[in-house]
Amino acid sequence: MIIAVDGPTASGKGTIARAIAAHFGVPYLDTGLLYRAVGRQVALDGGDPDNPLDALAACGFADALMDDPVLRSEEVGGLASRVSVHPEVRKALFERQRAFAEQPGGAVLDGRDIGTVIAPDADVKLYITASVQERARRRWLEMIEKGIGSEDEIPLAEIERDIVARDARDMGRKDAPLRAAPDALVIDTTSFDREAAYQVVLEAICEAL
Ligand code: C5P
Repeated sequence: MIIAVDGPTASGKGTIARAIAAHFGVPYLDTGLLYRAVGRQVALDGGDPDNPLDALAACGFADALMDDPVLRSEEVGGLASRVSVHPEVRKALFERQRAFAEQPGGAVLDGRDIGTVIAPDADVKLYITASVQERARRRWLEMIEKGIGSEDEIPLAEIERDIVARDARDMGRKDAPLRAAPDALVIDTTSFDREAAYQVVLEAICEAL
């Protein structure tokens, strides 16, 4: 059983995908981490994330970074979104994701192109989204919870601008743009809290299986 979970940044898809994988007892891959590791490696190498050759060169070394907490930062997220535009990088990371999806016991993968490119044969495809304002608000609260700054120190408007820019890059690129697969279940979690969103998704999966 392959479950593909796609959606824009800060949609809560990662939290939902992890919980779904635990519920069904199958392994989970956060494919964004692969792109984040490449973005981080390019920066460590002093390369240019917008240059496909620099980004491709970093792919071979990125594995060692996978457990580094810095990968979760906003800055590395931005780098990931820039290196992920290059078809060379997407190709270099394809096999690993495909092999994960093909594990005998099944798998849950989340990302941007799981239902469209990595696992078009997935048993269930989910596209989790929420309004830009709500995603910015969630990201803002998360940063405050993490102690990154106080309410006054973290500008909500700037977070919203970053999200709009990331959406534009992820949805506008030529190779594997972010979009719902034609047969995906589109779930808008704008009006749900975390638990309600998980329950809605779980019910949708059980109905689809
Ligand atoms: O999901 P996450 O925010 O960690 O992803 C970081 C960036 O990596 C995304 O904004 C996107 O540009 C890229 N990405 C991708 N394809 C995936 C997963 C992530 O292009 N399957």
